[in-house]
Order: sequence, then C-alpha cells, then structure tokens
Amino acid sequence: MKPFRYGCVVTDDAFCPRPGLQKALEGHIRDGQNVVLTGERRTGKTSLIHETCKGMKRWRMLYADLLNIRTAADFCNRVATAAAHLGPASSLAGKALQFLSRLRPTLSLDPSSGMPVVSVDSALAADPRSMDDVMGMVGKLAAGGRTFVVFDEFQEIRRIPDWEQALAVLRSRIQMLPEVCFVFSGSVRADIVDIFTNPSSPFFKSAIALTVGPVPDDDFAPFLTERFARGRRTVARDLLDEIFDFTNRLPGDVQQFCSAVWNATDPGTVVGREDLKRALSDIFAQEGGAFEIQTERLTRFQFKALVAVARWGGKKVFSGEFIRHAEAPSAATVARALKSLVGTGLLFVHEREYRFFNPFLRAWLLARFPI
Ligand SMILES: Nc1ncnc2c1ncn2[C@@H]1O[C@H](COP(=O)(O)OP(=O)(O)OP(=O)(O)O)[C@@H](O)[C@H]1O
Ligand SMILES: [Mg+2]
Repeated sequence: MKPFRYGCVVTDDAFCPRPGLQKALEGHIRDGQNVVLTGERRTGKTSLIHETCKGMKRWRMLYADLLNIRTAADFCNRVATAAAHLGPASSLAGKALQFLSRLRPTLSLDPSSGMPVVSVDSALAADPRSMDDVMGMVGKLAAGGRTFVVFDEFQEIRRIPDWEQALAVLRSRIQMLPEVCFVFSGSVRADIVDIFTNPSSPFFKSAIALTVGPVPDDDFAPFLTERFARGRRTVARDLLDEIFDFTNRLPGDVQQFCSAVWNATDPGTVVGREDLKRALSDIFAQEGGAFEIQTERLTRFQFKALVAVARWGGKKVFSGEFIRHAEAPSAATVARALKSLVGTGLLFVHEREYRFFNPFLRAWLLARFPI
C-alpha cells in the first residue's frame, strides 16, 4: 500500500498521533460538552474526529457529513442515514425509520457500499421544522448514553433557504439533549465561526472551541521519515522542512507532496532537492489541466492579481508597487479582483494576508508565468 495518503480520512497507522487534540476532544465528548472544531481546510479535522472515536471503546458516533446540503430534506436524509449506520444495521435502520414515520422515510441500500440509505419524502421535509423530527430521533437513539453526534461541515446548514429558522430548530432540540455531546466541525474559511460567535445566532457561545492547526513539525517529520523508510527511501529533515514551508504545513498538502516524492524516487535512494523538483513537475502534470481551466475562467485583472500574489506575496496588496505588478489602474480594481478570487476559492485571507488555497497552483503559476 502507498505510504502517503491524502484527499481522504486517515486513521490508525495512517494517522500521525495528535495526543493533545485527541485528549481534549475525547474529554469534551465524555463530559457531554458541545464542541465546535475548526481549522483550515485539509488540516485533519475529520480524521481527528474518527481517530478519537476509535480510541473511545464502547462509544458510538453518529457522524453526519453535511457537505453540499441544499434543503431541510437533505439534512434529514444525511442525519437519518448516519443514524442507520450506527449499527447493528438492521435494528437501528428500522428504529430510525420508525421514529421518522411522519416524514414517510424509505430505506434502500447503497449499491457501492451496501450500507443503508434513508430518504424522507422531500415535500414533507421541505420545511425546516421537519429537522425537529430528525433531531428527536437522534435524541431517542442517543438516549442509552455513550453516543455522540458529529455534524461535519456544519456551516453548510446556511445553504438551506430558511437557514436561520433551521438553526433555531436545531438549537432548541440540542438544548433539550444536555446529556448528548454534539461536535460541530467546519473549515474556518467557511463561516462556521460566525454561527458560534455572532451574538444574533442561536448558537452564540453554545459550544467550546477547539482549533485544529497544523501537525507540529517535530511530530510530523518522524512520522513521514518512517513512511519513506518503509519504501527504503531516506529523507533529510531539511528537505521535509522545505515541504512544510511550501505547503504552509497543511497535512493534506504535505502528504500529497511526499507521495509525489515517493513516486519519483526508487527504493534505496536518498531523497535530494532534485527529487522535490521532479515531484513538483509530476504534480503539475497531473493537475495542470485543472489549473488551466481554473485560470482561464478569470478576467484579465483577476488573473494579473493572482499572478502578482503568487510572485510578490499577498500582504501589501494595496501598495503602489503591488498595483503596478498587478498592472491594475487603481487599488479599487485590485480590491475587486482579490474579492472575486476569494469568492471563487482560489485565495483566502489569513491574518490580513492573501494566500493560495492550493500551494501547488501558486508554484504552477510561478513556473508557467515567469516575469
Ligand atoms: N493526523 C494526521 N496524520 C497524517 N496525515 C493527516 C493527519 N490529519 C490529516 N492528514 C492529511 O490531511 C488530509 C485531509 O484530512 P481530513 O480530511 O481529515 O482534513 P479536514 O480538515 O477534515 O479537511 P476538509 O477541510 O477538506 O474537510 C488527509 O488525507 C491526510 O493526508
Ligand atoms: Mg473534513
């Protein structure tokens, strides 16, 4: 099996231990303390949740991924399906259906995984109040204790047309279940913080915050070195440090880079700087097509601003120098272009600095469009 994994949840041996975070999360869950787990994208939030659960013997996790939900019915389907997966399958799926009878649920099996899938009647569940039925079911299933509930990508709730009402419905149910721990997870760039820190939100101050940052270099480096060694490759710490810097320490990007280095080298070799370069060109070869499509869609000023951030950095973006580099007529043009680039997800703002969402895109732009 490939020693480096990215773009998926990692657990067990593929998970670099994060004892502090695992302990904190487990402690909150055991205490019934609701948690809002935030961090950059690909920083390991979902993996942390799954790995923590694996370590909690005799505990069950109702894990609902809310990515791309659009309606209250979508929410109901995701949560009811997650409930049906709590296992042992047959009895729980049956119970979930029974508790939701008002929404006329149907049960089918996912052809690829063989797991149960619950779908409620979308017309009956169109109103956010239907979410109350599902939350009631969650409460009943969790009533036996030792069950916690995860709403991953929780900010997606805002895609529901009546999302304010949806939040209020959820909040009032959750308040009625003080013994059940809820973990709300989402990317910091995706509004989740606002749901918990905006005084007008029903979720204001309702959960304790836990931030998932990068894996510390001194923990990640030995983990990665050992994985290179399994494939009989030796890698020096300074090269790993280069990879950490290049990827802004986001674990998913670090693993993608390491995987490319592993593919570009033979067993018995010592990884060198040239191998990093080859790995990067392999990533460009794989992802270049997508990068082209993403950048071709941009207006002239958006493109120039993107290249200028790649080359000159995203801190002093309204300085005369940056505006000149971006070939923009004014600071307002730069501001508009950057706003659109953030909107399309190519850039994000971190501590007032515009940064690339994907460090490989930045490197690709630099290689492709030298001054
Ligand atoms: N503890 C870890 N050890 C090793 N690799 C990790 C760890 N945590 C995350 N990763 C790497 O990061 C990738 C993304 O992890 P995960 O999906 O858990 O992150 P996430 O924060 O939930 O991402 P997203 O914002 O996309 O939901 C994994 O595929 C893996 O390559
Ligand atoms: Mg995730």
